[in-house]
Amino acid sequence: MSVVVALLAVAHFANGDASCYANLPQSQFTNCLSLSPRIALHWTVDASTITFGVDVDIPLSANNWVGIGLSPYGGMHGADIWVLLKNATSGIYYIQDSFATSTTLPVADSQQDVRLIKAPSALSTNTVFTFARGLRTCDSQDLEVIQGQTQHIIWAFGQTSTQLSYHGPLTRGTQVLTLYPLPSTSTQMKAKAKAKAAVSSLATTSSLQTLTIQFPNVTVPSAGTSYLCTHVQVPADRKYHVVQFEGIVQSKLIHHMILYGCINKPPVLNDLYECSSMEALCSKFTLAWAPGVGLTVYPADAGFAIGATAIQYFSLQIHYNNPNGLTGVVDNSGMKLYYTSQLRKNDLGILQLGNMNINIPGNSPNYTSTTWNVCASTCTKQFPRNLTVVSVAFHMHTLGFNISTRQIRNGLEITPLGIRNYYDFS
Ligand SMILES: *[C@@H]1O[C@H](CO)[C@@H](O)[C@H](O)[C@H]1NC(C)=O
Ligand SMILES: *[C@@H]1O[C@H](CO)[C@@H](O)[C@H](O)[C@H]1NC(C)=O
Ligand SMILES: *[C@@H]1O[C@H](CO)[C@@H](O)[C@H](O)[C@H]1NC(C)=O
Ligand SMILES: *[C@@H]1O[C@H](CO)[C@@H](O)[C@H](O)[C@H]1NC(C)=O
Ligand SMILES: *[C@@H]1O[C@H](CO)[C@@H](O)[C@H](O)[C@H]1NC(C)=O
Repeated sequence: MSVVVALLAVAHFANGDASCYANLPQSQFTNCLSLSPRIALHWTVDASTITFGVDVDIPLSANNWVGIGLSPYGGMHGADIWVLLKNATSGIYYIQDSFATSTTLPVADSQQDVRLIKAPSALSTNTVFTFARGLRTCDSQDLEVIQGQTQHIIWAFGQTSTQLSYHGPLTRGTQVLTLYPLPSTSTQMKAKAKAKAAVSSLATTSSLQTLTIQFPNVTVPSAGTSYLCTHVQVPADRKYHVVQFEGIVQSKLIHHMILYGCINKPPVLNDLYECSSMEALCSKFTLAWAPGVGLTVYPADAGFAIGATAIQYFSLQIHYNNPNGLTGVVDNSGMKLYYTSQLRKNDLGILQLGNMNINIPGNSPNYTSTTWNVCASTCTKQFPRNLTVVSVAFHMHTLGFNISTRQIRNGLEITPLGIRNYYDFS
């Protein structure tokens, strides 16, 4: 009998099973996200405190530890980490407020700001516990929970030691999420709701069409990094507006997908080629998907123009990231575009600012590019009309740490369009 129990426990462990609201009540936690099939993060926020409920698919044993953290860029470097540990002497669980300055064991903060509310129950097959912390603790070893911002949550767990130990490559992860959303009455949230309602109303009047742009089945190259492309055609009998889009993701090896607009008809359609050869013909950056991006809904009064008088051909680029050199992985990922002939008041576009040639001198660990890309008044004057910025994104590959887009108007600096103090390519 005990053998059967052990086998069941192993099966349970291997299958993974920790889902939202299975072991914690929705009445207590208004938010929940499955961080992986084996760990579900529940939380609720008020103006001063965030309360977490964690459900991990590891049977309660003396050797468990579970870490949840707020991270500036998604890794351990600079992260504020809360670790559930069991006191080997007293057998009592406690939470250790910790921080990490590198990818080594987190160290206990000198000031402990996290409160364990409910320790794991001894009867559970899963390890389930709740804890709380102030949104702002004024402790330099802590990070703030910031309203209306996406933040990085990191997690890991283990049962390999009587104390915190290396988590190994499988039982850890990173998730970007908004812990503390703006209220639904805020301007931003109202605009988001309006954008969604506008798409729903198109759908109910049958004015919403869909277009899937997918790769042919390709064998993902075993090289660590590869960029593959295919040329596609979109409906061009008239001008349309794309009002939302999403990724069709069939492989975990995708680093990102981009639709590049072409200036002319490509010689071959639905082909497959190494992207490096395409630059001149199809280089107009348009829609992009990367892990973490869900459905992208455009503002209610704007759409991305395709078709007649706009872009009629695209190159779909998929960047595959295959660090373990897997072979024989077949993929046909792509994007699904939702478009309409009911044109909106404004066309969306993308303004790319940046410097493609930053020459970092040798032996300079901290380098700030001084050849900034400035779009001065001579540049902004070329805009055909005043522009309304609806979103900002940054791209720096692996060497960048900080980046911002600043605005100078009539000689005075106004609020930046965006700042990233912890840029992370991943
Ligand atoms: C563990 O429990 C013992 C005995 O109750 C106590 O003296 C010790 O301080 C505890 N250690 C931690 C890290 O809480
Ligand atoms: C790609 O492979 C899938 C699964 O084998 C198959 O259903 C689909 O028809 C294939 N698509 C193309 C375009 O060959
Ligand atoms: C670079 O930045 C690091 C971390 O901020 C700092 O420790 C170091 O002294 C800086 N090095 C130089 C050359 O400025
Ligand atoms: C753009 O905005 C500026 C400042 O509000 C205004 O002076 C100007 O007339 C606007 N230009 C157009 C073309 O609407
Ligand atoms: C830039 O990023 C580095 C590393 O993430 C950080 O230490 C530094 O404080 C940041 N600098 C600014 C000006 O934000």
